[in-house]
Amino acid sequence: MSEQYKLYINGQWVETDATQDVLDKYSQNTYATVYKAGEKQVGQAISSAESAFQNHSLSPYERYEILKKVSELLAENKDELAQTITKEAGKPLKQARTEIDRSSQTFEVAAEEAKRISGEGVPVEAAPGSENRMAFTIRVPVGVVGAISPFNFPLNLVSHKVAPAIAAGNAVVLKPASATPITSLKLAALFEQAGLPGGLFNVIVGSGSVVGQQMMEDSRIQLYTFTGSARVGLKLKQTTGLNKLILELGNNSPVIVDKEADVEQAAHNIAQKGFAFAGQVCISVQRVYVHEEIKESFQEKLLDAVKSLNVGDPNDPDTDVGPMIAESEAERAEQWVKEAVDNGAELLTGGDRNGPVFQPTVVNNVKKDMKVVCEEIFAPVISLISYSNLDDCIDEVNESPYGLQGGIFTQNLDRAFYAAKKVEVGGLMINDSSQYRVDLMPYGGVKDSGSGKEGPKYSIEEMTNERLIVLNLKNG
Ligand code: SIN
Repeated sequence: MSEQYKLYINGQWVETDATQDVLDKYSQNTYATVYKAGEKQVGQAISSAESAFQNHSLSPYERYEILKKVSELLAENKDELAQTITKEAGKPLKQARTEIDRSSQTFEVAAEEAKRISGEGVPVEAAPGSENRMAFTIRVPVGVVGAISPFNFPLNLVSHKVAPAIAAGNAVVLKPASATPITSLKLAALFEQAGLPGGLFNVIVGSGSVVGQQMMEDSRIQLYTFTGSARVGLKLKQTTGLNKLILELGNNSPVIVDKEADVEQAAHNIAQKGFAFAGQVCISVQRVYVHEEIKESFQEKLLDAVKSLNVGDPNDPDTDVGPMIAESEAERAEQWVKEAVDNGAELLTGGDRNGPVFQPTVVNNVKKDMKVVCEEIFAPVISLISYSNLDDCIDEVNESPYGLQGGIFTQNLDRAFYAAKKVEVGGLMINDSSQYRVDLMPYGGVKDSGSGKEGPKYSIEEMTNERLIVLNLKNG
């Protein structure tokens, strides 16, 4: 008998007349069923968020207390939540455990930020004719936030949407990824335990084409926060018109290994950061540009490190690389690698698939128009590209439509900072790979990687409106 989960709307656990199965992504067996939202439940969730926003105005300190409590509850429930993520996402247990720690941090930072929301003084009296006036701004919540989250961090990318929205005084309607809805429902139970008034956080499960579409078309939602593909990001932008948007979209993350890199450090780091959660991370290393002078030694060290990764059952605490989210995704990755090899790329390691598990793969001699290079692969696949001149390399890096995060390994400060100025990304890591993120930092991309920033402090800025207040003094 599989576990059964209800929706969370207006502080109530809700059954509907339709369910969907949630698979254990490694065994591919049904692990749970969850009730699915239809048009009625989506409407109810948005109405309840709207009225909760109007009727339950929490003070910043109350928001702090609730978010801090959720942070503590996440830490207390770490084992159970990590197991849920491992089952529904197929994320290796040790990475799932790290995700819980990070989420607990995200909530803690958001709790602290709830106490720091402030505007600023505006010196209007300096303008001729305004001598008798004083002005300042305050930041007010936007209202109802619509959050649409991806499968790859079923807890922490939900936390990055929900915690700052609540910290800012908003109400939230969340549609988690259909593949991984259970973690979000467990988060709702923790919010309930922490005392969040009903309606301020609602979780509705269903497909993008039904639930997501209805959310996009409902004018009661004032801001959308979305992580997913550039294609869906564009659709959101086109459908939601003048609404505020935070879009965290794709990337085909570049990392440059300069001739003055610590080759050992670069190889180890890239082997870890290119394959964690089977490469299904928006900032996972994908394109590795290696200076030709150190290519041979880097390649040898990288392959040693990649071959030492433990691949297979995500429930095994030693596993580094588990299954992809669906067998069809592993098939796609396999096809892209095959296409590259058929067109002249050299397969250095990997390329094999066992059901949803795709072996960590490194390809060499790739061309820039191959899918493994120019599209976001979102799979455990790294491409090696040689270069001899840093400017040409950076030009090639910047040819990508994406620009989320990148990295450069070098001991040469001039070249490091030169790259930092020239590479078109939201964040550049020096002596680290693209896949560096701690939860308090600003996180977001440029170009087709999206707009707006995550990181509680930065999201709160997006999730509040600045309101100007001007006093016209009688006796100035
Ligand atoms: C993402 O895939 O965009 C999130 C990466 C992270 O939070 O580490």
